[in-house]
Amino acid sequence: MKVAVFNTKPYDRQFLTAANTKDGDRHELRFLEPRLGLDTAQLSGNADAICAFVNDGLDRSILERLKDNGVRLVALRCAGFNNVDLLAARDLEITVARVPAYSPSAVAEHTVALILSLNRRIHRAHARVREGNFALDGLLGFDLRGRSIGIVGTGNIGLCLAGIMTGFGCRVLGFDPRPNPAFEALGGRLVGLEELLSESDIVSLHCPLTPDTRHMIDETSIAKMKPGVMLINTGRGALIDTRAVIQGLKNKKIGFLGLDVYEEESDLFFENLSGQIIQDDDFARLLTFPNVLITGHQAFFTQEALMEIADTTIRNISQFELTGQAAHPISLELRV
Ligand code: NAI
Repeated sequence: MKVAVFNTKPYDRQFLTAANTKDGDRHELRFLEPRLGLDTAQLSGNADAICAFVNDGLDRSILERLKDNGVRLVALRCAGFNNVDLLAARDLEITVARVPAYSPSAVAEHTVALILSLNRRIHRAHARVREGNFALDGLLGFDLRGRSIGIVGTGNIGLCLAGIMTGFGCRVLGFDPRPNPAFEALGGRLVGLEELLSESDIVSLHCPLTPDTRHMIDETSIAKMKPGVMLINTGRGALIDTRAVIQGLKNKKIGFLGLDVYEEESDLFFENLSGQIIQDDDFARLLTFPNVLITGHQAFFTQEALMEIADTTIRNISQFELTGQAAHPISLELRV
C-alpha cells in the first residue's frame, strides 16, 4: 500500500523502515515531517493509508480531506486515540487502527527513574557537580525500603511497576475498579482510592484518561495525601489538575512531583522549542520548583517499544491490504 507517514522524526523512519523491509519492501512509505492538520492533510497525496501519532489532528474536517484524497486507513502508531473523531471515521468508511499495547516495562522503568531521581535529587546533584559544587545540603533522600507506593491502575504498566517496587522492599498498594488478579499474587494489596491516597509515600498514576479520571488528582484528593508525598504521572496529563498541584507544591503538601505527561503538552512536547518563549505560565511555574522533574512524554521511548510499535503498525497495514480489516482496529465501543 502507499502510506503517507505524518509527523515523523528520524527514529520513526528508522524503526518503521526496518519493520517494513523485514520480508522485502512491503509498503511504499512516504515520510513527512509536518504534523497532520487541516493545512497539511493534502500532503497525503495519492496514499491509500496514513500513519499518525498522538498529537496529530484527526477531526471530521481533516478526515474528510483525507477521504477526498482516497485514504481508506488511518494507522495510529500509538495506543491512545482521543485525537480521532471515530464517529466521523465510521461515517466516512475510514478504518482506524492502533497499537494497543507495547513494552509496559518501558513506562514502568521510566516511572522508577523519576522516583529515584527525585528522591536522591540526581538532577540537582548532576548540575552541582558540573559546577564544582560538592556540598550535600539539600540533597537528602529517603530509603525506599519499607515505604508505601500507591499504584492507581493495575493494568499492564501498573503491574510491571508493582513488581519492580516489590523488589525495592516497598509496601505496594493498588487501586483499580477492575483490578488485575496478578497484582495481589505479586504481593500488592488492593485498597480503596481514599486509603491509597492517605497511606502512600509515593502515588503513581497508571490509569487511562476518561471522563471519570480527568483531574482525579485535584485539591480534594491532594488534601487526603500524606504531607510531603511524592506524586508521579506517566499516564496522561489531564489526570492531574495542574493548578491544584502547583498550589500543593507551594504549600509543601506535595514534596516531589515527577511528570512525563502534561495537560497541555500538545503545544510543547516532541519539538525543540529551546529558542522560543514558553507561553504556558502553569508549565513555566512548574519548572521553577527544585522538587519537580519533568520529561517530555518519553516514558515509551525505548528500542523495544519502538520496535513493537513499528511491527504492529506495519501488521495493521498489511492485514488491511489483505483482508480489508486491520489487525487492531478501533471500534466505536472503545470510545471513552
Ligand atoms: P491498561 O489498560 O493495561 O491498564 C489500565 C488500568 O487502569 C486498567 O486495569 C483499568 O481497569 C484501570 N483503570 C481504569 N479506570 C480507573 C480508575 N478510575 N482508577 C484506577 N484505575 C483505573 O493500560 P496500560 O498499558 O497499563 O497503560 C496505562 C496508561 O499509561 C495508558 O492509559 C496511557 O494513558 C499511559 N501510557 C503512557 C505512556 C508514556 O509514554 N508516558 C506510554 C503508554 C501508556
